[in-house]
Amino acid sequence: MSEITLKDITKVFSPVHQRRTATEAARAMASTGASKSEILGATGCTLALHNINLNIAEAERCAIMGISGSGKSTLVRLINRLIEPTSGQILIKGDNVLTMPRDTLRHLRRHTVSMVFQSFALFPHKTVRENIAYGLVIQDKDKTTISEQTEKWVHAVGLTGYESAHPNELSGGMRQRVGLARALAISPRILLMDEPFSALDPITRTEMQDLLLALASNLSITIVFITHDFNEALKIGQRIAILNDGKIIADGTPRDIVSNPVNEDIRQFVQSTHWPGHILAKELMEPLSANTLTAKNALCVQMDETLNSILRKIGKRMPQITVVDETDRPIGIIAPQVLNIAPD
Ligand SMILES: Nc1ncnc2c1ncn2[C@@H]1O[C@H](COP(=O)(O)OP(=O)(O)OP(=O)(O)O)[C@@H](O)[C@H]1O
Ligand SMILES: [Mg+2]
Repeated sequence: MSEITLKDITKVFSPVHQRRTATEAARAMASTGASKSEILGATGCTLALHNINLNIAEAERCAIMGISGSGKSTLVRLINRLIEPTSGQILIKGDNVLTMPRDTLRHLRRHTVSMVFQSFALFPHKTVRENIAYGLVIQDKDKTTISEQTEKWVHAVGLTGYESAHPNELSGGMRQRVGLARALAISPRILLMDEPFSALDPITRTEMQDLLLALASNLSITIVFITHDFNEALKIGQRIAILNDGKIIADGTPRDIVSNPVNEDIRQFVQSTHWPGHILAKELMEPLSANTLTAKNALCVQMDETLNSILRKIGKRMPQITVVDETDRPIGIIAPQVLNIAPD
């Protein structure tokens, strides 16, 4: 069963006056294929999301990518109902979030779903320790558990020694470490992250991405990670959905996304030299099947070899690539067109 299911979700933001009639008019226009700007011009409403269908599996890391205004924050905030959809269904492990009684929804927000924001959203008057402990206090955990869990997460995010500092004494990267620890301290099943690293400098951003991946590898947690950065989406997402004008225009593995670029921006990115070097051979390969033809002169690469390393080996030529496991057994091939380089 999916951890998170969005079914036919549409979200229209309408002006306060004549809310219902304007919303209905906007929805009717959307269903006939009108664009976001046509709808805005005719009804004064913003079509933030239109007919979104998304299933996110348990413990999957799903990156949602799109440019500013494409609907990313709206989508992620619908999941824990910080925003109500205009129509459609939202299910968490099969439970309908939209019809949940108030106390079940409160329980979901306190125990199951955590959020990390781009702006950190820390409590300025609380210390690092108090910020991280916050969710546990709200959960009514006993003092010993709160103290043990808080110390564990202070350490896990590398903030030992800063327990008594206040947010204004910390750098941006350190603040987001607090944000991440606070979110994870409640042991959520789902972590929603809305551009959590976008405000950080490139080096700190890379450190935080690595920290998130290291922490996630030890937890069974579903992550919905919003970003406008393709490289970041490829690094974090085991699966990537691309939003454009409130619609999902692509949804697949990093390999699907780079091998079938859905628009000119992605095509240019894929063809540029800024290749996402951290993609691994096993993520790019097509698994071997009975009718896969393997070339005799294929280049063999290890399944955990990065794309950067592979590209260094092949230079400008492009042989077929055979991916092998730890025992050198062939397990897949990477076809030339996947790397978008002309074959030999
Ligand atoms: N509360 C609101 N009232 C009216 N319109 C809104 C509201 N929130 C969002 N919108 C509109 O909905 C659309 C999607 O906004 P959203 O914030 O989800 O985009 P985003 O992809 O997160 O953008 P960014 O990358 O800038 O954060 C935009 O056109 C925005 O103007
Ligand atoms: Mg946003």
